[in-house]
Amino acid sequence: MTKGTLNPIAIFIAITILSATVGATSTADDVIESVENFYKNLNKDKLVLTKLKYYIHANFGVGPTQTVFEVARSNITGPSTNNFGRILIIDNKLTVGPDVNSQKVGQYQGMNAYSDFNQASANMNMNIIYTDGEYKGSTISILGRQPVPEKIRVLSIIGGTGLFRFARGTVLASTYSSDPATNVGVYVYDIYVVTPFVGKSHKAV
Ligand SMILES: *[C@@H]1O[C@H](CO)[C@@H](O)[C@H](O)[C@H]1NC(C)=O
Repeated sequence: MTKGTLNPIAIFIAITILSATVGATSTADDVIESVENFYKNLNKDKLVLTKLKYYIHANFGVGPTQTVFEVARSNITGPSTNNFGRILIIDNKLTVGPDVNSQKVGQYQGMNAYSDFNQASANMNMNIIYTDGEYKGSTISILGRQPVPEKIRVLSIIGGTGLFRFARGTVLASTYSSDPATNVGVYVYDIYVVTPFVGKSHKAV
């Protein structure tokens, strides 16, 4: 194909693929299956897949136990039905079970910025900080778009440190419970994290 020309067959294929992708309404089960299959088919000779499951405890209630703080809002955030322009800074506890007093693995820290005019959706810029257990000292960096009303929110793992150096992966985030009386939300994170295979001597430093 010469520069500047557009191949009509290529355009047709691109539009067909695009409309199939955009038009498909995927259920929560479709999303989970697609992610499961993707990671099942990884080349395990070169990559190590680690599956993790954690519970995140967010306390929105004002007081000494608060863990989510609004630090800024735009002048259209109030009238916006989607929290547009609202920025939250967060330091939530991360545990292995849904009970806040179950074994702690670390903290989930960072920033959420609501940045969608049409849906309550936060741009997540977060880190898992391991303070306890086998990954103590390591971190996982998560970036992604979290559309709050959706059952499964898919986030990207874009890096890490220590045992998660060079990490890539996917987080399936969902709501475990949300209590308007206490203003506490508990979220389940099903994490698929892939790191390069570097032998058994790999240790977090
Ligand atoms: C937001 O602020 C800008 C400038 O500060 C102003 O022009 C605009 O009218 C304000 N919008 C609302 C909804 O208050």
